[in-house]
Amino acid sequence: MTLITDVRLRRVLDSRGNATVEADVLTESGGFGRGKAPSGASTGEYEAIELPANEAIAKAREEALPRLIGEVHAGNQRDVDAALHAADGTDDFSGIGANSAVAISMAAAKAGADVLGAPLYQHLGGTFRGNEYPTPLGNIIGGGEHAADATNIQEFLAAPVGAPSVEEAVFANAAVHQEVHDILADRDLPAGKGDEGAWAPSISDDEAFEIMDEAVETVADDFGFAISFGLDVAGAELYDDEADGYVYDDGVKSTEEQIEYIAGKVEEYDLVYVEDPLDENDYEAFADLTAQVGDQTLVCGDDLFVTNVERLQAGINADAGNSILIKPNQIGTLTDAVDAIELATASGYESVVSHRSGETEDTTIAHLAVATDAPFIKTGAVGGERTAKLNELIRIEDNAV
Ligand code: PGA
Ligand code: ZN
Repeated sequence: MTLITDVRLRRVLDSRGNATVEADVLTESGGFGRGKAPSGASTGEYEAIELPANEAIAKAREEALPRLIGEVHAGNQRDVDAALHAADGTDDFSGIGANSAVAISMAAAKAGADVLGAPLYQHLGGTFRGNEYPTPLGNIIGGGEHAADATNIQEFLAAPVGAPSVEEAVFANAAVHQEVHDILADRDLPAGKGDEGAWAPSISDDEAFEIMDEAVETVADDFGFAISFGLDVAGAELYDDEADGYVYDDGVKSTEEQIEYIAGKVEEYDLVYVEDPLDENDYEAFADLTAQVGDQTLVCGDDLFVTNVERLQAGINADAGNSILIKPNQIGTLTDAVDAIELATASGYESVVSHRSGETEDTTIAHLAVATDAPFIKTGAVGGERTAKLNELIRIEDNAV
């Protein structure tokens, strides 16, 4: 029923105005699915390779389509994704492009769900999953690679940990975003927005910590439940080999100083989440920080693990963290992403399903988070390509997909 009868690929826009790959998968019984690849700016050194959209499309047409059309059932995700790996022939998707791979992988999953007449999360997770909803981490203030002349730390993230529902959590994050706007206006600090819709004022990281603290407290009082906050430091972007440390506007921190700095902020602000606090090659420093604060906060590997089971296993062996960011395009297929989540869960690591800074209206990650009972999803707070996922979560919770 779900035998793939056609795959169509085209170039469409992402949220930064760059070209990305859109895939349509059709099945013999009339099933249809469409997926779009997102794209990172602060990409990890060990991520699967994204090719220019035109090239990725040409390569996938040549290598992947003959292995899919008339050959593989969209309903069997492992077969689809194995065919993509076989067509690619490399270990980093540099053959057909991780952007073509992930778009086809997601489109096939949606076509499989369409044939079943089931929501995507149920097709991916089965009937015994999908009853837990992820807490959305909302990007509120940011800089790094996502905005010029703003904070050094890439993302300050609201975490509505006490919210009674996804819907309340989504609105709480939007309210924190608005509250920060008001605080910035009161302080005469003009701010545009970065790539993910976070405010990108020209302020110090210390001032951003203060403003976040004030904003989450105000909104928590209004909403009547606990809201904490966390960070994506994007440490690999701050780390400079030649400087032998982490380069901030006000100076360079050695690895030991960086660990001390982050541990201090976790204590001071009760941070519930710290992503990539250290360089992507430094498992040891991750382990040191985790030993210090791992019982009070999530220490999450993004560029460190790149959704890759081998890098995650190395991290588990080294106690280098207690959670993993899951970005399907970082590894190329939904099967690989789910394998990483399963290894994480089996090892007591929390999974945080995530968008990229360059996004589309695709909602697959909302379904993936619910399908895998991931405790968190990171997909922004405002902006159409972000609200596409947030609103889909609200619909999933309302049994309306
Ligand atoms: P990216 O950043 O999508 O630009 O890589 C997001 C992140 O670092 O989490
Ligand atoms: Zn990150």
